[in-house]
Amino acid sequence: MTDRSGSKDLFDRAMQVMPGGVSSPVRSVEPYPFFVESGDGAYVTTEDGDRLVDYCMGYGPLLLGHGLPHEVREAVDAQIDDGVLYGAPTELEVEFAEHVVDRVPSMEMLRLVNTGTEATMSAVRAARGYTGDDKIVKVEGGFHGAHDGVLVEGGSGLSTLGTPDSAGVPRSFTRHTLQVPFNDADAVERVLEEFDDVACVLVEPMMGNCGPVEPDDGYLERLRELTQEHGVLLVFDEVITGFRLDLGGAQQRYGVEPDLTTLGKVAGAGFPIGVFGGRRDVMREVAPAGDVYQAGTFSGHPVTVAAGLESLRFVEREDVLGYVDSLGSKLRSGLSDVVEDTRPEYTVGGVASIFKVFFTPDGELPRDRDDVDRCDTERWRRIFWTEMRDEGVFLPPSQYESQFVSYSHTEEDVEETLEAYDEALR
Ligand SMILES: Cc1ncc(COP(=O)(O)O)c(C=O)c1O
Repeated sequence: MTDRSGSKDLFDRAMQVMPGGVSSPVRSVEPYPFFVESGDGAYVTTEDGDRLVDYCMGYGPLLLGHGLPHEVREAVDAQIDDGVLYGAPTELEVEFAEHVVDRVPSMEMLRLVNTGTEATMSAVRAARGYTGDDKIVKVEGGFHGAHDGVLVEGGSGLSTLGTPDSAGVPRSFTRHTLQVPFNDADAVERVLEEFDDVACVLVEPMMGNCGPVEPDDGYLERLRELTQEHGVLLVFDEVITGFRLDLGGAQQRYGVEPDLTTLGKVAGAGFPIGVFGGRRDVMREVAPAGDVYQAGTFSGHPVTVAAGLESLRFVEREDVLGYVDSLGSKLRSGLSDVVEDTRPEYTVGGVASIFKVFFTPDGELPRDRDDVDRCDTERWRRIFWTEMRDEGVFLPPSQYESQFVSYSHTEEDVEETLEAYDEALR
């Protein structure tokens, strides 16, 4: 038996000073999470001495794995030498913004913020400011961070006004949020016909917090048409998919351009970042150019921007996406074989460098949140996560979270991971 008293002792201390002993709820597992001592390439080493191949990858930002390539490290060090924060604009943030605008098809102007939460909160405000309308449409199971208007109960809310999904969120805030199932453009059409005061449809073009769940053919195209017909802005939340599904994100991969886009995660190379941007006429409404107020002490943080820009350049130079996508395909196809042998009722989802085994009852790939709810999520949470850790693999402790291959993973890692799944699923 591995001695896990290192993590247990830290958890006991953490419980005294941090709610639930963690800094973010998804990190909480029963009876206690492992604490990480260090990361190295595709691996983390825990405080209990376990060395685990990591597919959590910080919940998405670590496209390159743990540890920064020397070019990125040099850019970070140079920026620290030159000063960490100025509270004044820098050339670097202009270069970063130009880099993003050049690559993300619909992006004409952007604002740098610090998290994905801040990015989606600000994009919604910009959409409301631009249109003068209050309501937003979001997808059930779509996660856009932890701000009030998007913390809406999961149940089917077609044409019903949202109720809060968290204590502390005023009902009067979420009544502006309408929910529809993913991959159901007819539901969006019905909502837009019923309500004439919708500012935007906010959607992850590929649901990353419910699987992953890919859009059906034609779904995003219909959202584009419907929003245009009704004078409503289409906002793609590309916090997970940005710079991962393609250099220009999901909108490039699927060929549909939204009005506004949010980015985060990969864009900051592991440092905190968020971006919202899109159509010039909408972004010109953002302060100080316009009347939509948005501000932040740490926005455009020089160290983050230095790391993000240099790592995005590295991703392109080294064809990182080509590598991680092909490793992702190998993993998905190997997992399909494992599942067929061990648990034919399960199925494998994902795209590019993202993958997940769904504990489905019938082998049908989930198309929306309800389908994922029908999976054996309890087996995932209570048993499977621990079994995989014991097999030397770090997965997010939830059926709902996507898993990521990084540039640091190797074919041998994939082989060993397939053996671990085979062992745990048997
Ligand atoms: C699609 C999506 N949007 C927004 C967020 C919130 O980003 P952050 O955790 O950086 O606030 C997340 C986080 O997982 C996300 O997956």
